[in-house]
Amino acid sequence: MIKLVTIIGARPQIIKAAALNREIQKNFFDKISEYVVHTGQHYDENMSNVFFDELMIPFPDINLKVGSGSHGNQTALMIKGIEEVLNKQKPDFLIVYGDTNSTLAGAVAASKIHVPVIHIEAGLRSFNKSMPEEINRIMCDHVSTLLFSPTKTGCENLFSEGFASNTKPPFTIDNPHVFHCGDIMYDNSLFFSTVADEKSSIIEKLELTPDEYVLVTIHRDNNTDDPERLNSIFEALNNISFAEKKTFVLPLHPRTAKLLQANLDKTLYKSIINNPFLKILPPVSFLDMIVLEKNSKIIITDSGGVQKESYFFKKPCIILRPQTEWKEIVENGTAIIADADKNKILEAFSYFTKNNDLKYPSIFGDGNAAGFICEEIIKAHSPSAVDLENS
Ligand code: UD1
Ligand code: UDP
Repeated sequence: MIKLVTIIGARPQIIKAAALNREIQKNFFDKISEYVVHTGQHYDENMSNVFFDELMIPFPDINLKVGSGSHGNQTALMIKGIEEVLNKQKPDFLIVYGDTNSTLAGAVAASKIHVPVIHIEAGLRSFNKSMPEEINRIMCDHVSTLLFSPTKTGCENLFSEGFASNTKPPFTIDNPHVFHCGDIMYDNSLFFSTVADEKSSIIEKLELTPDEYVLVTIHRDNNTDDPERLNSIFEALNNISFAEKKTFVLPLHPRTAKLLQANLDKTLYKSIINNPFLKILPPVSFLDMIVLEKNSKIIITDSGGVQKESYFFKKPCIILRPQTEWKEIVENGTAIIADADKNKILEAFSYFTKNNDLKYPSIFGDGNAAGFICEEIIKAHSPSAVDLENS
């Protein structure tokens, strides 16, 4: 039996981990066991617990309850807690997802005590090191043993950073292997799409007309914490919704909700609160989110995951960031980078209102990334790869 320790902490990681957990329980339960560590990075009911219930995954084996804090404080507490778990559990591999502080903490803790790291969503780059996520991605990739990249671009990024394309087993931290596996979130979107249609009543609850409203998410620190950027984004949303008489649905991340009043100009804040076209909500569950995405007209977001889901569900996307790791969707003409520039947001909105004959060729795999990853973990496993007892 191969023993995995999986690290989750932030909302998107719980969602991604659901795909692998489902695959293990269905097809690999006799070969792979999973011990799940929740760092506690996200802890509100609607940022964490809600996903375990509805995605049909077991609750974590341990929650380190690290909570919020500065990068250093949060990451340090996670490293300490994860190291203790690894020393007790002695897994064959540690799995981390994406690019959050929980990802980095897992990678640092494991690699230093010779537990091979599996990075799912490896190789993505924004080429903007002012993003904490870019630092987390690069550092995690460079101590990983098995690197699973969702896109060809991700693989190429790794090769250009010195990863070899032709390594042979046994794979180790010094002889890592890069796999092109497709996107594990695509697995989830396919799997939960019909379940969501059956179970979610969010469209009725919010009295939305399908294909008529715009879905917006905002949570990047450079947007929420910078008043100039936040004002520019909300001015654009406020103006478009009034001018077009279109409903905008905004399930707001707690970070954004907390900073809205503090960082928006008083008049704009008042106008937003009183704007009947803006529906500002707390975060929604994944099934509700999928239904909101599938029925929207346009998606406006700074989220990595939501950008991709816009593509999965064939919706035009306006990206509130200066660049994206998912450059394929921009090159495909179905997403536009508008950054936090009010005029660019207006232009992109107007473009997508007029141009709706968009094509979405398959670029995120076949929806079986989790199955592929399990197969490769089994092939790569070797009892001698990790022997914590003798280290
Ligand atoms: C983190 C990730 C980001 C990811 C996002 C997913 C890092 C550096 N950032 O950003 O890459 O896109 O998660 O959502 O790891 N808060 C709550 N309740 C919660 C969680 C957070 O109120 O359950 C508030 C706290 O005020 C906290 C703030 O949100 O200080 C930021 O949370 P944090 O986890 O540090 O970063 P995110 O912005 O969520
Ligand atoms: N999501 C959700 N409810 C929300 C907002 C987002 O379930 O209110 C889901 C979304 O569908 C996607 C994931 O959370 O699968 C993206 O997470 P987030 O935007 O927080 O982080 P990122 O992907 O940018 O790291």
